[in-house]
Amino acid sequence: MHIKFLDELKRFYMIVARIWLFIRRYKAIIILALFLVYRIYNLRSEPSKRIAPLSGWGREAPRSIGDYLDPTQNTALIVPRDFCRSKAFLTIVVCSFVHHFERRRAIRMLWGNSTDFNYSAFVKFHGHLKGRYLNVLPERLRLYSEYLSGEGNSLKASIRIVFILGRRDLASLRENEEVVREAEKYNDIIQENFIDTYNNLTIKAVMALKHISQSCVNTTAFYFKCDDDTFVNVPNILHFLLGGTIPVNAFTAGFHYGNTYDVTSWRKRLTARREIMYGRAYCNVAPVANKFNKWYVPSYMFRGGVYPRYLCGSGYLLSIDVVPRLYKASLGTRIVHLEDMFVTGLCAEKAGIKRNGHPLFRSTYPYEADAQCTLKGSFTAHRAKDYIMWEAWYAITNFSGKCPPPKKNFHLKLHRKQKC
Ligand SMILES: *[C@@H]1O[C@H](CO)[C@@H](O)[C@H](O)[C@H]1NC(C)=O
Ligand SMILES: *[C@@H]1O[C@H](CO)[C@@H](O)[C@H](O)[C@H]1NC(C)=O
Ligand SMILES: *[C@@H]1O[C@H](CO)[C@@H](O)[C@H](O)[C@H]1NC(C)=O
Ligand SMILES: *[C@@H]1O[C@H](CO)[C@@H](O)[C@H](O)[C@H]1NC(C)=O
Ligand SMILES: *[C@@H]1O[C@H](CO)[C@@H](O)[C@H](O)[C@H]1NC(C)=O
Repeated sequence: MHIKFLDELKRFYMIVARIWLFIRRYKAIIILALFLVYRIYNLRSEPSKRIAPLSGWGREAPRSIGDYLDPTQNTALIVPRDFCRSKAFLTIVVCSFVHHFERRRAIRMLWGNSTDFNYSAFVKFHGHLKGRYLNVLPERLRLYSEYLSGEGNSLKASIRIVFILGRRDLASLRENEEVVREAEKYNDIIQENFIDTYNNLTIKAVMALKHISQSCVNTTAFYFKCDDDTFVNVPNILHFLLGGTIPVNAFTAGFHYGNTYDVTSWRKRLTARREIMYGRAYCNVAPVANKFNKWYVPSYMFRGGVYPRYLCGSGYLLSIDVVPRLYKASLGTRIVHLEDMFVTGLCAEKAGIKRNGHPLFRSTYPYEADAQCTLKGSFTAHRAKDYIMWEAWYAITNFSGKCPPPKKNFHLKLHRKQKC
């Protein structure tokens, strides 16, 4: 008995000695590993790490929207004639840099040409998959009838596109004249008197909310905000807004989650009329601490460790009642230059509006080989710069390509739960 106990003790002592030896031999590596774990853990949120000032938004810069935008005055340099006098089911607001003439031209000719890209394109994309998606809801057709014409496969919805521009700091007179000429010709430009930079996008997005709130709430049903490098599948968005669902094809199957793939379930339909906010949802995003990063945020702009849930700025969809509420909330919220986080995160939280994620809002551009069916089956694709916008257009309007449905048990491979 006694001897057995001593044996045990000896064994225990040997183990401890071995561990001790291991620690002594590899102490440098162990300390380094512990330090790295500590750093990674801490990098996430510590405000004291985000002290470098931000270009254009120094510590002293006024941070109230009212300092940049007078809510009581019309401060715009250019507004479309009779802006929002006519009815539009969907008003699409494209935030565009003032010198991106070519991108605006492409959007007007391609997905923004609503006579070409009306609801009937939906049937050309997906008609062969009938039975694998839900059709529009008759009660929604009635509800929005003032904005619709035609029926069945030749249904048409009225759409309005407006581009929001700032001005260039040292723009030549010629460039300014070019913007004026463009605005006169197409009547789809709002230009405001602030300097058009990436770090001023929040001002631009709130300008859009101001104009829409003041002129469009009685003449439009939905608002869609995107950038000038976003490819928008207008027919799919119309179908969704009218209570239908978008069929899953072999190339879009992987965008879904275990709880979103079943698009023949009535629960996937949009039935609400108000308080609608849809887009690509982000949650638990921590502020970027690297001052060279495009999304760097100093702690004097945002102190918290994580942002409220928000929707990606490459494309978000709102019912029109939400627009004035976000605008009102923005007037009392200190500016953070990340437009999407500010508008759909901070302001929406303040206004008490829920943000819904939908897997078909894509914030990237698909691989070349998958482009045709991915674009046909999504709401948006981002990073469609310049010639890519044209490629996207040729791919999607090739109506002879019929996208195959997904493999039989594809849903077994999907992640069970949508994280966000
Ligand atoms: C829009 O499409 C119509 C019909 O295809 C065409 O006549 C018109 O020129 C297009 N508009 C633009 C700006 O490209
Ligand atoms: C759809 O067609 C209708 C009627 O031709 C037109 O008024 C509307 O502007 C078009 N919208 C789009 C997005 O094509
Ligand atoms: C944003 O616009 C304001 C008003 O024109 C200007 O004073 C400021 O420098 C701009 N900020 C940036 C980051 O460009
Ligand atoms: C919209 O209609 C409401 C109620 O009729 C009215 O009070 C409001 O001023 C209108 N708004 C605009 C921008 O015309
Ligand atoms: C249209 O798509 C089909 C199927 O993907 C393809 O075979 C065909 O070459 C495409 N046509 C054009 C003009 O790109």
